[in-house]
Amino acid sequence: STLRNIVQKMPKAELHIHIEGSLEPELIFALAERNLVALNYASVDELRRAYAFTDLQSFLDIYYAGASVLLTEQDFFDMTWAYLQRAKADHVLHTEIFFDPQTHTTRGVAFSTVIDGIHRALREARARWGMSGALIMCFLRHLSEEDAFATLEQALPYRDKFIGVGLDSSERGNPPEKFARVFARCKELGLHLVAHAGEEGPPAYIETALDVLQVERIDHGVRCLEDAALTRRLARDKIPLTVCPLSNLKLRVIDKLSDHNLLQLLDAGLVATINSDDPAYFGGYMNDNFVQTFEALPLQRKHAQQLARNSFFASFLDASTKQKYL
Ligand code: ADE
Ligand code: ZN
Repeated sequence: STLRNIVQKMPKAELHIHIEGSLEPELIFALAERNLVALNYASVDELRRAYAFTDLQSFLDIYYAGASVLLTEQDFFDMTWAYLQRAKADHVLHTEIFFDPQTHTTRGVAFSTVIDGIHRALREARARWGMSGALIMCFLRHLSEEDAFATLEQALPYRDKFIGVGLDSSERGNPPEKFARVFARCKELGLHLVAHAGEEGPPAYIETALDVLQVERIDHGVRCLEDAALTRRLARDKIPLTVCPLSNLKLRVIDKLSDHNLLQLLDAGLVATINSDDPAYFGGYMNDNFVQTFEALPLQRKHAQQLARNSFFASFLDASTKQKYL
């Protein structure tokens, strides 16, 4: 069977998906109508035409605006359910989903509304299909550490509904060390720790995410190759990178997909994975990312197997479940 077929059908885990980034323009319009929220775009097509990003910030501005239609628990369920159906179709057996509570609580939406709606969809997918999923709460790094602490406080009554914390939003000028104390507290609480680093930001941010925040995985991390010592360290310590090729293309981290460094990352012995990041905005879910990356780069069957294996190895599944996939 063709390599394309193999990458599509192989069982995989997704480890880097912002649930708000799975909100399709059609659902944005449906929820705007249901909730009587005014949009600055006249149609689905007009909204989609605005998805011409020049960098991370130009995307984030539109992404936060899109999330403004999410008001009720059912809205968060519907968004998550739509994503889980797409993930299932791409043979994703396990998914670790980011959510950005501050995007919603700053608009007056209760923390419980957000997490209950998302979590109900995860329970439904497990009950119906045996698909596993877990939540990682992200702190918005353009906001203060004090804000992050307040969010953690709001989250604690729901401690059983999420497994870890992450750090996302505008990377440049918001280094990991800004969140040193809140991550230390999260570690004490037994939460898993991850952070976006080395997407647009320098390799030094990857280092401080590891040394200061003590994260277990790096989200993106593609700029690590600019620092040979850091690259060796990531390989030696098997620190996974959750790479998102179509995101890197659409946010102009790279000019064309054939310029992507995924093969160099694998050749350097890094635990790199392929993920979708914000699939509704970047033109593709998991298999779109796999197929287009395999078309653009000289990746072979062994790389497909390695990427699938890496996705489970890098997951926060318990050791015995993980073992079954490896
Ligand atoms: N939030 C959603 N997608 C993101 C990305 N790629 N980088 C930083 N923050 C994000
Ligand atoms: Zn991301």
